[in-house]
Amino acid sequence: MKAYVVEKINDKFISGIKEVDIPTITNDEVLIKTTYSSLNFKDALSSTGNKGVSRNFPHITGIDLAGIIEESKSKLFKKGDEVIVTGYDLGMNTNGGHSQFVKVKDTWIIKKPKNLSLKESMSYGTAGLTASLSVNELIKNDIKKEDGDILVTGATGGVGSIAIAILAKLGFNVIAISAKEDKIPYLKSLGAKEVILRSDFDTMNKKPLNKERFAGLIDTVGGNILNEALKSIKYNGVATCCGLVSSYELHTNVFPFILRGIRLIGIDSVEAKLEKKDLMWNKISNEFKIKSLDKLTKQICLDEIQEIYEQMLLGKVSARYIIKF
Ligand SMILES: NC(=O)c1ccc[n+]([C@@H]2O[C@H](COP(=O)([O-])OP(=O)(O)OC[C@H]3O[C@@H](n4cnc5c(N)ncnc54)[C@H](OP(=O)(O)O)[C@@H]3O)[C@@H](O)[C@H]2O)c1
Repeated sequence: MKAYVVEKINDKFISGIKEVDIPTITNDEVLIKTTYSSLNFKDALSSTGNKGVSRNFPHITGIDLAGIIEESKSKLFKKGDEVIVTGYDLGMNTNGGHSQFVKVKDTWIIKKPKNLSLKESMSYGTAGLTASLSVNELIKNDIKKEDGDILVTGATGGVGSIAIAILAKLGFNVIAISAKEDKIPYLKSLGAKEVILRSDFDTMNKKPLNKERFAGLIDTVGGNILNEALKSIKYNGVATCCGLVSSYELHTNVFPFILRGIRLIGIDSVEAKLEKKDLMWNKISNEFKIKSLDKLTKQICLDEIQEIYEQMLLGKVSARYIIKF
């Protein structure tokens, strides 16, 4: 079978498509014939040998996949089931979805909801699952559309763009932060009411608090942008944080928390319990289902991965990329 393999040769990481053996499965495992996979920031990091993601090489990237069960040694799944896998160790130190066939533990697998195609499920992929978990936390913590604007950072990224579209579908007034001035019309077409340029927001501002401006925040970038956003959240507002493309560091102060009672909630789509993922995929196929999915997704083949990884690491992508097998 064909797979996108990262190898460590003389301390250098070299990646590309290779012919490898189809894996054999043991008890409680299934062999999935991949129909679609997607490209995520973490895959791009893994392809460079980033130790925070992958330590075992040779390695096949791909932290998510949708496909059909080809062979099963599981009591939970049978040949022909349509399934989705995201997170856990897939694509980290376990060979991932950028491969024609993938061996997966049955405790990592979600049955695809009826109201969602395999292609749609990977158009959302890990990014869409993370965006949904983030939106869900705002709602669960009582943020309503009447409360005011929701700020989304890293707006043209996978998580950011899907979060914008879901929030807009639910009637929220969304403000996006992006570095890409030429993508303002695109972000507005997804549902953003206003776009703030990243350079205008990511400033060194020594004030401990900014004017109260946003009822909620979905942050995908971390660092100073998250700090500035936290200082701008209204009384009793809620912020979620899931990513680190700007920085994994967060230097802030306690005033937004102790004077405005704001809450900062961490989002993890990787190790989330299977029941939570299942609930979220059902929401994705119903109330969180967006019409703009085609607009924000580009379909590529396995041999185009390398080029997109490079763009991703430079922060230049502005779409979800799905791989069709
Ligand atoms: N916690 C979880 O479970 C989970 C799951 C999925 C992803 N993540 C993390 O969430 C983050 C976003 O993921 P993604 O898939 O949306 O990534 P992505 O598609 O690569 O998009 C990231 C976006 O962030 C912005 N950006 C890039 N470099 C930046 C910088 N130096 N400073 C500020 N903004 C920058 C860009 O948008 P603009 O040009 O529009 O600003 C870019 O399109 C990543 O860190 C990823 O690892 C976490």
